[in-house]
Amino acid sequence: MSGLRLIRCGADPRGDWLLERLSLPPGSTVQAAEQWTPPASPERLLFLLTVDELGPGEDCIRLLRRLRALPETALSGCLAGVLVLGRTELDTKDLGRRLIFTLNLAGCGFPEGPLAEATGSMRNLAVTRRNHGLASLEEAWVFAARDLVRRLTDFTAPRFEKPRLLVLHASERSTSNTLALADLVLAALDPRFRVRTLSLRNGTIEDCRGCGYQICSHFASKGSCFYGGSISQEVLPAVQDCEALLLLLPNYNDSVGANVMAFINRLTSLHVSKSIQGQRLYALVVSGYSGGDLVAQQALGALCLNKRFLLPPGFCLMATANDPGQALLLPGIREQAAAFAARMGAELLE
Ligand SMILES: Cc1cc2nc3c(=O)[nH]c(=O)nc-3n(C[C@H](O)[C@H](O)[C@H](O)COP(=O)(O)O)c2cc1C
Repeated sequence: MSGLRLIRCGADPRGDWLLERLSLPPGSTVQAAEQWTPPASPERLLFLLTVDELGPGEDCIRLLRRLRALPETALSGCLAGVLVLGRTELDTKDLGRRLIFTLNLAGCGFPEGPLAEATGSMRNLAVTRRNHGLASLEEAWVFAARDLVRRLTDFTAPRFEKPRLLVLHASERSTSNTLALADLVLAALDPRFRVRTLSLRNGTIEDCRGCGYQICSHFASKGSCFYGGSISQEVLPAVQDCEALLLLLPNYNDSVGANVMAFINRLTSLHVSKSIQGQRLYALVVSGYSGGDLVAQQALGALCLNKRFLLPPGFCLMATANDPGQALLLPGIREQAAAFAARMGAELLE
């Protein structure tokens, strides 16, 4: 695959300033979002969005709406990264995450860390500046954007003869709609997958203590964490050993449940020891009423944008079911579960 296609949305001179410094690989092209149409064959796509004091402009909204109209295989084989430049401290993460979620619904995959953003003050780049000894926040922004270009250009998706899939849940088996949906997916999964299922309800789960970087690195280098317990002894090693993670996420107040959130926060230990390397993220979200997209985006944001899980095409299956057993009665749910399992096989198997 040669070059990137850079798709630009929003007029802002700071976008031109960045473009002049990006060092795109040979063969790359730059196109306005309004002129861009989804490619007929796989491409590497880099979106550059700018957002002003009032939030996403009409051109960004139009892009999101056009993408939402695409069928779920429209961007099969495409890989993307997203750059967002803000005017204030608001909107950059939200817009970047929404665009990545929307592209993913259309079958686009993403490398690790697919979003680079600069808020209005650029203070979000202070740690990057310090860690890499850069002279200014502007330099840190160029560094972060170039790093994304490099990772997007170099990325090859790893495949496996017998992929290890880790399923994590915190639900009650006898009543859980999310576990019932997972059973449908696992029944349809290629037998070459080696599946391990762990409950996050085993023992007491402590949330991340927020140790400083030094203390966190100290425990992480010993394969542990300040609190120890089942998360350190069983769950984190299992995440380190898997090639794909399937999170089961009932919607609790438009959020992942507390046990799952504690697990995500405790993943910081694997993040600082650089043990999240190439694992794919998948999720099953069940809401009683609405808001599954919020939960899916929360998981995507925490694990793929903040940590470094890979985001495979169509990473999430969302369903609406409230009473126990209702998920299995949804029209077409078996076909959707089978299609989701087939996507996992197509993505991970050699
Ligand atoms: C504490 C709690 C909070 C919930 N909050 C929401 C919510 O905000 N939105 C929603 O659509 N459903 C909500 N629900 C309903 C669940 O998402 C729904 O019952 C789902 O089937 C639960 O999955 P499970 O059976 O796997 O536990 C909530 C349920 C509980 C117990």
